[in-house]
Amino acid sequence: MEHPGPSTGSGGPGSHPATLILGIGELTTNAPEAVLADLGVDAVGDPTGLVRDAALLLDGGRVAWVGAERDCAEGVERALGRAPDRVVGVEGRAVVPGFVDSHTHLVFAGDRSAEFEARMAGRSYAAGGIRTTVAATRAASDDELRARLRRHVDEALAQGTTTIEVKGGYGLSVADEERAVRLAAEATDEVTFLGAHVVPVDFDGRADDYVDLVCGEMLAACAPHSRWVDVFCETGAFTPEQSRRVLEAGAAAGLGVRVHANQLGPGEGVRLAVDLGAAAVDHCTYLSDDDVAALAESWAGEAQGTVATLLPGVEFSTRHPYPDARRLLDAGAVVALASDCNPGSSYTSSMPLMVALAVREMSMTVAEAVWAATAGGALALRRDDVGHLAPGARADVVVLGAPSRAHLAYRPGVPLVHAVWKDGVAAHSPSTR
Ligand code: NIG
Ligand code: FE
Repeated sequence: MEHPGPSTGSGGPGSHPATLILGIGELTTNAPEAVLADLGVDAVGDPTGLVRDAALLLDGGRVAWVGAERDCAEGVERALGRAPDRVVGVEGRAVVPGFVDSHTHLVFAGDRSAEFEARMAGRSYAAGGIRTTVAATRAASDDELRARLRRHVDEALAQGTTTIEVKGGYGLSVADEERAVRLAAEATDEVTFLGAHVVPVDFDGRADDYVDLVCGEMLAACAPHSRWVDVFCETGAFTPEQSRRVLEAGAAAGLGVRVHANQLGPGEGVRLAVDLGAAAVDHCTYLSDDDVAALAESWAGEAQGTVATLLPGVEFSTRHPYPDARRLLDAGAVVALASDCNPGSSYTSSMPLMVALAVREMSMTVAEAVWAATAGGALALRRDDVGHLAPGARADVVVLGAPSRAHLAYRPGVPLVHAVWKDGVAAHSPSTR
């Protein structure tokens, strides 16, 4: 299926070969209509910038040109000035931007399948299960944690995730949290310090002392490896006051703010997140009208607002009610989807599954769900180089083994990712599907 293009002139296959993808039945660009109009592409009029019978040119790790296949000779000449190094035909398949998974907890050891099994037999989910993973993670070697992290990141990549955020939060001591973010930084640029995940057993009854440690020595050790600070603001974890202290300390150390809130019940976490200008507040399962209004209004000004990141893998794995995505979307809030991959509440790295759950269980349209899993995740990480496929975007591309993106929800549980390019390099090979 892949064959070298007639390469002429300068360039030639390097680490980022110029690659022309032809035969795209349906291309989700997430590009604004104006950008597509400039390229002479008929925009379909939805925010996902859908182009049919499309072609895509990748060069130097970026998207160099996108448009209708019938215009590609001229487009390639203009963008590249020579023949591409490679031409790949995808035979009518659908193409979407690489998924942006803005919320995972992948530095961990141990297994909580017994807890899951007990939950499915009727026991309820509680934040305290986190401590089980903390004990296993503390006992693991660096190499074991590194190998597990790499395995999970590769597993996600094979399912189309090309940008992934990774949190600590299963160390809960200065040395163990420093190790978690240091190892995470070997795998991704999107690293989050989550020392305030729960109060560890050694600080039982002394939550405020633990918050002092998080805001002081632990933050100082972790900030150099991290881009973000996060806190679990929830009954059983940290109060809104404690959460504010952690987030303000993180922001003062130069970290961007993100928050876990309103997962297990209503609370002040969402409003705290909006108040602090957080990039995202994640879970959002139990929201008041004021929470929804605050999230929507956070996008009213010039500055970026707070994304409501929904994590339907959690509701699936804990048998809780799904968040009300329609209420958020209809109010004008910006919604992202993420996996929350972690050993307790959502042990899946599958963004296609998140799209399927959002469509089937949360009444999101296919277009809304695909946008939320790509462009929405990018906004939640305040990234403008991923989550879309306009010229200049990172060449993170997923070819689905299907003629339309609707198959992500229509065929749940089926391995639908046919090929992946990350930074313009083939990262997951075409299969026979
Ligand atoms: O995002 N909510 C807090 N933390 C994780 C759960 C972690 C666990 O149960 O181990 C979450 O769902
Ligand atoms: Fe989480």
